[in-house]
Amino acid sequence: MDGTPDLPQGYRRLHLPEIDSTNDEARRRAESGADGGLVVTADRQTAGRGRRGRNWNSPDGNLYCSILVRPEIAPAEGAQAGFAVSLAVADIVADALAHALPVHCKWPNDVLVSDQKVSGILIESASGAGRSVDWLIIGIGINVTSHPDFAEKPATSLAACGVTAQLDDLLAQLVAALDLRLTQWLEQGFDSIRNAWMERAWRLGEQVDLMTGQDQVTGAFRGLDETGGIVLELAGGERRNLGHGELVAQG
Ligand code: BTN
Repeated sequence: MDGTPDLPQGYRRLHLPEIDSTNDEARRRAESGADGGLVVTADRQTAGRGRRGRNWNSPDGNLYCSILVRPEIAPAEGAQAGFAVSLAVADIVADALAHALPVHCKWPNDVLVSDQKVSGILIESASGAGRSVDWLIIGIGINVTSHPDFAEKPATSLAACGVTAQLDDLLAQLVAALDLRLTQWLEQGFDSIRNAWMERAWRLGEQVDLMTGQDQVTGAFRGLDETGGIVLELAGGERRNLGHGELVAQG
C-alpha cells in the first residue's frame, strides 16, 4: 500500500509501513494539534486494538486505517458516529462484492458478509473544554486478504468471498463513503442514519441474545433508540433499551 489514493477534499493520508495501532498514532497526532481529515494507514499493526479491550490481529494485506475528525457534536453523541461509519463500510463492501452476497450491519458496529464478520470499527473520542468533543478517531479494519479463524466468531475476508481488491482503491472508496455518511449524520441528524442502518441491520425483528457482561438478555430485536442503544422486546412484551453488549443470534 504505497500509492497516493485520490481522497475527497479535506482529507490527507499518512501511511506507515508498521505502527502499534493506527488509532494510537491518530490520537498522538490529534493531541499534538493535527487538523481533522487526517487518515492514518499502515501495512500492519503490532498492537491493533478492537472493541472491549480485544486485540485486532493485523497482518499485511488487510486495510487498517484511522480517520481523525473534529465535528461539532456533544460528547454523548459520539456513539452515533459508529452507525454512520458502519453504513459507509457496508456500502463499499457491498459494491466490492457487486451486491452478490448479503451485507449487514451488526449492532453496534460490525459489518458482516453472509453472517461472517468482514470489518470491525473502533471509535475513540476526547472531550474538549467547551460543549463539543475535541476529536473523534474512527478506526476501521477490513479483512481484505485474510481473516482470523475463530469457531465462535465466524469471520471472512473479501478474498474469501472471491474478490480481489487493491488497498489504495478500497481506501479511496472508504473515505469517500465515510465523508458522505458523516455529512448525512451531521446535516440531517441521527434519525436519517438510524433509518438507513436499520435497513441493513442484522437480525432485525428476530430473537437474539444480548450478552452484557455476565448477564444475558433475550428478546426480539426491535431497532435502535435515539442514542444508538439496542431495543429488545422481552417475552412479556416489555421493551428494554440497552447501550452495550455483544449480540448473538439464536439458532
Ligand atoms: C472490533 O471489531 O473490535 C473493532 C476493530 C477495529 C480495528 C481497527 S484496525 C485500524 C484501527 N486501529 C486499531 O488498533 N483498531 C482499529
